[in-house]
Amino acid sequence: MAGTLATAAGLDPARATVPVETRGTRPRVLFVSHTGTMSGAELVLRDVVRAWPGSAAFLFERGPLAEALREAGLSVQLAVPGADLSGLRRDVSPLRALPVLGRLARLGLDLARAARTCDVVYANSQKAFLLAALPARLVGRPLIWHLHDILDGAHFGRAQRIVQARLANACAARVIVPSQAAAGAFVRAGGRRDRVTVVPNGLDLTLDPRPAAALRAELGLPGGPLVGVFSRLAPWKGQDVVIEALARVPGLRCVVVGSALFGEDAYAAGLRDLAAARGVADRVLFLGQRSDVPRLMQAVDAVVHPSVDPEPFGRTLVEAMLAGVPVVATDAGASSEILDGGALGTLVPPRRPDRIAAALAEILARPAAFAGRTRLARERALARYGAARMQDDLAALVRQVAARA
Ligand code: UDP
Ligand code: GLC
Repeated sequence: MAGTLATAAGLDPARATVPVETRGTRPRVLFVSHTGTMSGAELVLRDVVRAWPGSAAFLFERGPLAEALREAGLSVQLAVPGADLSGLRRDVSPLRALPVLGRLARLGLDLARAARTCDVVYANSQKAFLLAALPARLVGRPLIWHLHDILDGAHFGRAQRIVQARLANACAARVIVPSQAAAGAFVRAGGRRDRVTVVPNGLDLTLDPRPAAALRAELGLPGGPLVGVFSRLAPWKGQDVVIEALARVPGLRCVVVGSALFGEDAYAAGLRDLAAARGVADRVLFLGQRSDVPRLMQAVDAVVHPSVDPEPFGRTLVEAMLAGVPVVATDAGASSEILDGGALGTLVPPRRPDRIAAALAEILARPAAFAGRTRLARERALARYGAARMQDDLAALVRQVAARA
């Protein structure tokens, strides 16, 4: 909160965090997540809960998130198997969701019991919020919704947007979003402006700059022009557009890092077919899911962030800035605010392989011309997007909500 207020006042949020000692007593928080898989929102949660040892988590499914939360000192409760929420598409119509309502009611009761042992309920996803809203109300606990999505027409149907915004107005003590873009979409969907607070995501800032050539040798990556795209494989993440772009830049190779985390296997297979069809199969290196993304980023000549729909935040963008490599990103969602309106990275329209190709060709032809911009991008990321700042901002909000309750 302090950092957000500081940003609004034009101050450096990294210097405006709330000291832990001045925050008073510590409320007990119940963190709720629908998934146990680690994508960006769960990586954020993993870092957020480090400030809340002794608190609790309620997860709708098993997976690496449960382990990460236990390691951070939380007691983790898993919903009884069978709630089947992963199969429930987030844009499903209310009628088609009816058959699972019985199972969800059981889950709601378990959630209510867990919430009763805590002071605040903190829903870290859209499904978690929808399912925690009633149980939290039932036991009189304030509910925070950390909304990692953009409530716009690209990601949600109209009815979905309206229901979520109205439910938030009625049930959420606070809605936290990672960007102005996400805040704007929430308000346009009908969410109350005074309910939403922007807390930009924060990441580990400790990466030391390393020479790309040495890293490539270590990581077994080829020499020559090499770019990378680092995201789970999903249609809206736009890896296909990068493969199309590659076909326009002779000799350029690309590492595609990430896997289909949420059932987008057909899209992942289609990427290989596309690379073969465009004659670039030997220039696209699929590396799968990796745990060394920052290192891999330091090894490439540029990072492409090609999301075709608006990105709520985009941790990979900030990771690329921290890695000190030039960035080409689509101008949709938060990328412009993160890249200072395009001053610190090349912004291109979504779904434009020609524009990505041209931007990459320019970076590869004149790398020295981008050195200053890349240095400034790293400085901006260090100043604004640290995990400690995010933890402090969120802790202040949680305490405020608990105190008001
Ligand atoms: N990531 C990773 N390994 C991979 C691909 C991605 O650890 O193989 C990480 C990436 O470094 C980033 C996160 O997954 O921290 C993705 O977060 P982002 O906000 O960019 O997108 P999301 O997938 O959550 O929409
Ligand atoms: C979601 C968004 C991504 C964001 C992440 C963490 O997964 O798609 O843009 O960075 O949450 O907030």
